[in-house]
Amino acid sequence: EVHNPNGALRVVVTKALPGDRWLKVLTAAGCRVEVSADPDTILSNSKIKALIGDKCDGVIGQLTEDWSAELFGALKAAGGRAYSNYAVGYNNVIVPDATQVGIPVGNTPGVLTETTAELALALTFAAARRVVEGDSFMRGGHYKGWLPTLFVGNLLQNKVVGIVGAGRIGTAYARMMVEGHKCDLVYYDPYPNTFLEQYVKDYSKLLESKGERPLSVRRCETVEEVLQLADVVSLHCNLDDNTRHLMNAQRLSLMKPDAVLVNAARGPVVDEAALVAHLKANPSFRAGLDVFEDEPAMKPGLADCPNAVIVPHIASATLWTRAGMATLAACNVAATLQGYPAWNKPDV
Ligand code: DGY
Repeated sequence: EVHNPNGALRVVVTKALPGDRWLKVLTAAGCRVEVSADPDTILSNSKIKALIGDKCDGVIGQLTEDWSAELFGALKAAGGRAYSNYAVGYNNVIVPDATQVGIPVGNTPGVLTETTAELALALTFAAARRVVEGDSFMRGGHYKGWLPTLFVGNLLQNKVVGIVGAGRIGTAYARMMVEGHKCDLVYYDPYPNTFLEQYVKDYSKLLESKGERPLSVRRCETVEEVLQLADVVSLHCNLDDNTRHLMNAQRLSLMKPDAVLVNAARGPVVDEAALVAHLKANPSFRAGLDVFEDEPAMKPGLADCPNAVIVPHIASATLWTRAGMATLAACNVAATLQGYPAWNKPDV
């Protein structure tokens, strides 16, 4: 689909995007916008190179695409000067490869913070309270009446929530668990999050003033400490060389036997084969997964684990957020093409 065909700058969008403001941003900046209608869910490099063609000023691309030297080289050769990922995560982008050919990279933080944290929360409680198992049970016609022992799960009120990666999304999730569920907080992050610590302390004072149990917050020196202390651990770190397979068999074994592990970050942060083995060996252990190591595939056996709740990478999937991500990506590209820095760029 082509919009504003007479625009002087050619921008390629590799997948249709929701909302319409993003298109207004680009057309107002004088761009002819070409949105690919290719039916493949994930576009190969050769298809993306064909979309780029001989002249292309900028691209909005997807997290499923491999934006490294090959594609940035093709974009540069076509006169490209701007790239934005339609995602906050940028593990699919080799930023130095873009920098090497002088193409600035943008991403889309902020608009998906609360949305992603809400989905992590949904996975937390769906896993802890066995919502999906119960749903299948009902649909399978197995319900014969209320029983004291039917689908007994875990109460998370007043328990310990653990966060690995206390950035924007981790902080939003932690606040939801602390304020909504009165959880104590332990977290691991290379940097102290003084805002979050103060937030828990202030909230704790409020609870105490009302005669309720005060809450604690602690930044742990190691991930291992978080895993040992927490009843629910939610992963919110970037995927990089330090976090790939952070949750391996050894670290999983440190978690409480009835703990909940949530991953709405990136699949390879968890050794998924080790997780499948852990779920099978520990039926009371639960996982809530939005992302997978070999997305879109799942490791053998995961789909057979009733103690895992699995959804297809939908943490940012609300219309408001997805339209906002599109607008941010368009602003990134438009700003760069007009000679300004991208509105949002990866912290590298
Ligand atoms: C991201 O933005 O990185 C999410 O994975 C998709 O919104």
